[in-house]
Amino acid sequence: MERAPEDPWAPVLGPGQWHREAPIFGVGEVPAHVALVMDGNGRWANERSLPRTEGHRAGEYALMDTIAGAIDAGVRYLSVYTFSTENWKRSPAEVRFIMSYATDVLRRRTGQLKDWGVHVRWSGRRPKLWKSVIHALERAEDETHDNTTLDLVMCVNYGGRAEIADAARTLAQDVTDGKMSPRGITEKSFARALYLPDVPDVDLMIRTSGEQRISNYLLWQLAYAELMFTPTPWPAFDREQLWDCLLEYAGRDRRFGGARDRVDESGNAIR
Ligand code: IPE
Ligand code: IPE
Ligand code: MG
Repeated sequence: MERAPEDPWAPVLGPGQWHREAPIFGVGEVPAHVALVMDGNGRWANERSLPRTEGHRAGEYALMDTIAGAIDAGVRYLSVYTFSTENWKRSPAEVRFIMSYATDVLRRRTGQLKDWGVHVRWSGRRPKLWKSVIHALERAEDETHDNTTLDLVMCVNYGGRAEIADAARTLAQDVTDGKMSPRGITEKSFARALYLPDVPDVDLMIRTSGEQRISNYLLWQLAYAELMFTPTPWPAFDREQLWDCLLEYAGRDRRFGGARDRVDESGNAIR
């Protein structure tokens, strides 16, 4: 279906409303947790002789369409990198735009997301983040709290190192307060001290716009994630492209450090 990604006000088709159905996946083939690095907004806009901020605006449609496609495919957790702890380095005007636009999107889209069964959540640091964004995030969290179709984790003022440092501080405080001993610090207890401990590790990370780096995203949770990089800039991404990534994921062999012999046609291991 043709659409003009330049028009963020185009009505978004909800889950199940696309002109073609989501691919059918086998048991265990759909990643439970997909993490997106929504990159390339500025370049997308500049290529059209538009200011970078128009790229952020155009990214709204891509986000909504991708959420609908994730629901169609049966993804349970979708993390989206919205603003990193390093993005404060951008011009004050761009930071201002992103902050007010994020607030605006949350306010306008929460009702629709609620109808789709989405539970909106926030992962990130509070200091420095605009109050209006925090309020909009908390309000969306509140309003969608009972939904269980998909958890949408908005990573806003998020940094992987910040999250790990914050978890270390929480555990150190627990040790100081006598609530646990240093021996109690394990991978398990550390993971419980992260921002959203109930959210499982990332199965698949997708980064748009051609950059092949992590940029301080979900460092702990990405330990064994499958990584995919697409040249498409974020405003041109949509559910079809998400489905293509999911099909590729279904064909990947995840070993988690283990090893498996290849088998011949009769199922015997090849040695
Ligand atoms: C991603 O697009 C959005 C944010 C980081 C907020 P960019 O703004 O990084 O766009 P490019 O990478 O400069 O094209
Ligand atoms: C990562 O993109 C952060 C978000 C998409 C929010 P950046 O554009 O900030 O990352 P770098 O600077 O290219 O590594
Ligand atoms: Mg970028």
